[in-house]
Amino acid sequence: MFNHSLVMLATCVAASFGAAHAQVRTPSVEEFTNAALPDHGVWLEDVDLSHMVASEGQTVARKAINGKQLTIKGIVYPHGVGTRGPTELNVALNGSATRFTTLVGIDDRGRHGGVLRFEIFVDGKRASESGPMKFGDPPKVLDVDLSKARNMRLAVLTDTTDVEKWDNANWIGAFFTLKPGTNKRPISYAEPHPPAPIIHSAKDERPAIHSARQVGATPKKPFLFLVAATGRGPLKFAAANLPAGLRLDEATGIISGAIQEAGTTTVTLTVTGQRGSTSSEVTIVAGPRKLAQTPPMGWNSWNAWGTAVDADKVRAAADAMVSSGLAAHGYAYINIDDAWEGKRDATGEIQTNEKFPDMKALADYVHSKGLKLGIYSSPGPLTCGKYEGSYKHEQQDARTFAKWGIDYLKYDWCSYGDIVKNDKSLEALQKPYKIMSAALESTDRDVVFSLCQYGMGKVWEWGKAVGGQVWRTTGDITDTWPSMMGIGFGQAGHEAHAGPGAWNDPDMLIVGKVGWGPALHPTRLAPHEQLTHITLWSLLAAPLLIGCDMTALDKFTLDLLTNDEVIAVDQDPLGKAASRVDQTQTADGTTQVWSRPLHDGTIAVGLFNTGSAPTKISATWAKLGITGKQPVRDLWRGKDLGVRSDVFTATVLKHSVVFVKIGAPKKSGAN
Ligand code: GAL
Repeated sequence: MFNHSLVMLATCVAASFGAAHAQVRTPSVEEFTNAALPDHGVWLEDVDLSHMVASEGQTVARKAINGKQLTIKGIVYPHGVGTRGPTELNVALNGSATRFTTLVGIDDRGRHGGVLRFEIFVDGKRASESGPMKFGDPPKVLDVDLSKARNMRLAVLTDTTDVEKWDNANWIGAFFTLKPGTNKRPISYAEPHPPAPIIHSAKDERPAIHSARQVGATPKKPFLFLVAATGRGPLKFAAANLPAGLRLDEATGIISGAIQEAGTTTVTLTVTGQRGSTSSEVTIVAGPRKLAQTPPMGWNSWNAWGTAVDADKVRAAADAMVSSGLAAHGYAYINIDDAWEGKRDATGEIQTNEKFPDMKALADYVHSKGLKLGIYSSPGPLTCGKYEGSYKHEQQDARTFAKWGIDYLKYDWCSYGDIVKNDKSLEALQKPYKIMSAALESTDRDVVFSLCQYGMGKVWEWGKAVGGQVWRTTGDITDTWPSMMGIGFGQAGHEAHAGPGAWNDPDMLIVGKVGWGPALHPTRLAPHEQLTHITLWSLLAAPLLIGCDMTALDKFTLDLLTNDEVIAVDQDPLGKAASRVDQTQTADGTTQVWSRPLHDGTIAVGLFNTGSAPTKISATWAKLGITGKQPVRDLWRGKDLGVRSDVFTATVLKHSVVFVKIGAPKKSGAN
């Protein structure tokens, strides 16, 4: 029994090594079974766990994250803390403890194939780590000396380059050994963060056009495009060389109609306001499978409202998209996620539920603002929220969506897993997406097709071939640093598969007020973590789908979402997503340099610090593949930083980024 053995090791071992050396033997794995607390011990589970930030779920004392008993390799452990990696907990010790001892391993009931590392940092330095662990591995003992420690951080890190790579991580029988006679206790805390960064928010009265520079459409299908423009109004819009079949409303900037012929047309848009006039070019690419030439930008209901979404909330989101100014910066989609579905009628036609009394009227309303409406379904009989899915009704549903005026479909695997239970083939993964993509294409509308199956079977390698324009590469994001950075930085390597009409989707944004409904809370990401989030998504050429309550946008969130130079990186018409060109381990994180080439010959470069101490990061010309003297511009601050040769170096704060554009734009593509 561990109760005996730990007491023994606290007494016998100390006795055998001599108190002066304060050296204690690390217990064996077996000694953790049925453990009782040794003298001077405090269980980790008795420390306030509300500060334990997990990628999903709330950490619970003495239970796995799923509420079941903590179990590893068939052994049930009475003590410990179950969580889901990636996760972290900070504990202030202030000289209270001498040791922290724990068994670590992946819970038997997770089985999501994740590869996780348990790490213990003491005063910012890695003191112990498990190495990679996965389901089925024997647990390991970690034991660290805290005799001089001020604080300790427990972290579970995961590599999410593969969707399967998350799992339930257990700290088993974890306890602090306190200094004899101390009346202090280990106290968990939320880590302090640097104050919000200053973001340049251009509230310029001169007119400026922010629309994507490249837009795709299928000839003969309805076309809708709002010219995104800011400046002191009223603004007046004009377009030269519009393809036949399209017309521009000069007061609203809405281009509508249907292109008659396939082909590429360069249109010159002009916007005139109280403070002058400006022009910019947009290339309209008309032909089959030309949608989403740049990553879709807009809003999706899920991260805010979850299944509490209703038509009024969607309408309000569309209103706020315009009134907040976001539409004027290029955000266009208003996407309804799960929970709009009703039952099917006698003919099998899908009905909306009582929260969406008239989907066609809702679509008309959204379209009247120049915005587009998205919807959600599953190839399975039921969606993830247990609503009616499209299984065996694909053609019928595609027709219904088109009839309503839908412009975007997120098609979520969910219960389709039950249909192909024993078939793990690539063909089984692809089949339902091929069916729905063909069904959508056979309708009289352009519907952007977004695959949601969490990255299974390396979807980025074949998402385009089965008719998708967007595919989720990961499981669901939550509004925590471990979740966001695990997903974001885990995208390395996927960039080869992105390009116009083909976008990796690391999930929707988690800035602003989120909550998966009905109750909302401000994002748990610190301001600099949000900066990292938006920078990384822009570098990744990810869809920018806002996931918060659009009617409650604070200034910082708006500034983050409306920085046109940052959006322009995301929407760059070359469509080349960033790669990670450099990565260095630091005391409790990494520094990473990501870069992507832009259409005008410049490159966008992010210098990221995932650790907690401000760190100098260098992006060398050798790693970036450039030479000579180059101008550098800070995109978030909207500031030219001068010319550099060979290297650009910046001090980057905790969990933050410095985002720059390097190089002089080529004349032809200049802004
Ligand atoms: C999940 C999906 C989420 C959301 C949810 C709806 O599978 O990843 O983004 O759509 O289903 O039930």
